[in-house]
Amino acid sequence: MRFPTPGRLHRALAPRLLVGALLAPSLALGQSAILEGERFHPEVGTHGMVATSHFLASEVAHEVLAEGGNAVDAAVTAGFALAVTQPRSGNIGGGGFMLISDEASGEVIAIDYRETAPAGATETMFQDEDGNAVAEWSRFTHRAAGVPGTVAGLALALEEYGTLSLAEALAPAIRLAEEGFTVPQRFVDGVAEAGERLTRWDATRAMFYKEDGSPYAVGETFRQPDLAATLQRIAEQGAREFYEGETAELIVAEMQRHDGLITREDLAGYRPVIREPSHGTYRGHDIYAMSPPSSGGAHIVQMLNILEAYDIGAMGFGAADTMHLMAEAMKRAYADRAEYLGDTDFVEVPLDGITSEGYADALRAGIAIDRATPSDEIAAGDPAPFESNETTHFSIADDDGLAVSNTYTINFSYGSGIAVEGAGFLLNNEMDDFSAKPGVPNAYGLIGGEANRIEPGKRMLSSMTPTIVKRDGENYLITGSPGGSRIITTTLQVVMNVIDHGMNIQSAVSAPRLHHQWLPDELRIEAGFSPDTLSLLEARGHTLRQQSAMGAAQSIVIDDGRFYGGADPRRATSSAMGL
Ligand code: DON
Repeated sequence: MRFPTPGRLHRALAPRLLVGALLAPSLALGQSAILEGERFHPEVGTHGMVATSHFLASEVAHEVLAEGGNAVDAAVTAGFALAVTQPRSGNIGGGGFMLISDEASGEVIAIDYRETAPAGATETMFQDEDGNAVAEWSRFTHRAAGVPGTVAGLALALEEYGTLSLAEALAPAIRLAEEGFTVPQRFVDGVAEAGERLTRWDATRAMFYKEDGSPYAVGETFRQPDLAATLQRIAEQGAREFYEGETAELIVAEMQRHDGLITREDLAGYRPVIREPSHGTYRGHDIYAMSPPSSGGAHIVQMLNILEAYDIGAMGFGAADTMHLMAEAMKRAYADRAEYLGDTDFVEVPLDGITSEGYADALRAGIAIDRATPSDEIAAGDPAPFESNETTHFSIADDDGLAVSNTYTINFSYGSGIAVEGAGFLLNNEMDDFSAKPGVPNAYGLIGGEANRIEPGKRMLSSMTPTIVKRDGENYLITGSPGGSRIITTTLQVVMNVIDHGMNIQSAVSAPRLHHQWLPDELRIEAGFSPDTLSLLEARGHTLRQQSAMGAAQSIVIDDGRFYGGADPRRATSSAMGL
């Protein structure tokens, strides 16, 4: 088996991309036919593909496929390995969503392993006595943590759709935690940036710094013995160990020492849920993406419905018309997100309306081609009449028609910054994804309302958008991204780059991105778009803001019997490996 060099796919990429060179010659050609003459080349495989944000996780997932495991086996193995190799965002102290598509049965299912609010949570728990939302409380205290779902979610995926035992899927992660791995530059930079938060708590400091208190340097070995022991207990006793065994005790003790809310009962009561993904169509493709408690699926389908009526391919990638229309669709979707989206186990969400073509027609009628609609002229629409009734993303596909799209998170890089003493993992600060107070933005500037208020046992609204696109009943594009509020728009752009602009998957994930989320009323732009185009957008009334890299969309396209992997150059450790 090959051992990939970190970031080998894109070390040579200049940060500013030349947009023109990304364009593919013809949409009529398949992915394999458009590779010659391209500037960006995907990894190619004939029997499967893994694309993750860390080369060590890609390596162990690749090994599982090579030894005959299926895509779910590889995904669960990668999921646990990332918790070790990318402790800032890969996680067992957090939660997420996994989409699984099985071509043979035609089924696409979603595993919801999002965190839940503890039973002791209250609607106003992050407000002071004057009713002001206190960001510090929802982000950096023990109360910021939702009940973690990852261990239960990955175990459920394996049980239902995998062939490996949990112990087998955990073995590489345990080895990486025990033996350690060589620290890359990104690790060192991350710890330096978050230093203040990581030194606040003894257990976190012990996890991320050497015994003498100094930070790790590039090339040194980073070992996580407490995490190895936690994973080993789960391997020996099963997923319930995390929720009812010694790990649960360690979490509860941590909570009790620091006024946290998670109890033994909260942990024992946690259950992942198998859900139906959101579904729509786009130019003859079937789009499946995560349903509530994520907003991602509803809004990617909604935006694609709005955009399908325009000839985006003819307008061209990076053209002012294309970018303008995308921004207008984004604003309208995010306005609805703020009003309507929440956990459907607790609130009614007009999902059929939001994802209906009739509603998209109504929203599109309000879009002018020559003028940006100011966000204060956009309120949430009325989907009801149409109602017929540092996060980590990885994509994996096998040769038997099974594809997995997984996004999971502890919310911020390093979550709350609080490690569970003796257990070796960070707690999420996912409670900040609830609306601490209606109308008050969360860390990503996202506004939530009543639908996303805090309630015991409820799942906080997410933007995570693991997505699988099928063509003629076959898995075609597997994608998704981290990036907070930018997740949905990043995923949208990968889909459009492949379907509208005919890009190969490496070009599609590398191309510069834009983002609008209704409020604040600004169009965020990565480096790489033409200054002339940006002037045209300003002339239409868009307020532009240059933004550093958005998202990290590790993606796969399957076409003509080949697997194409696109590792996102925005993460230095990204790696796609075909077999
Ligand atoms: O669930 C959500 O939407 C957020 N907690 C995701 C956070 C995230 O993507 C941070 N990473 N870049």
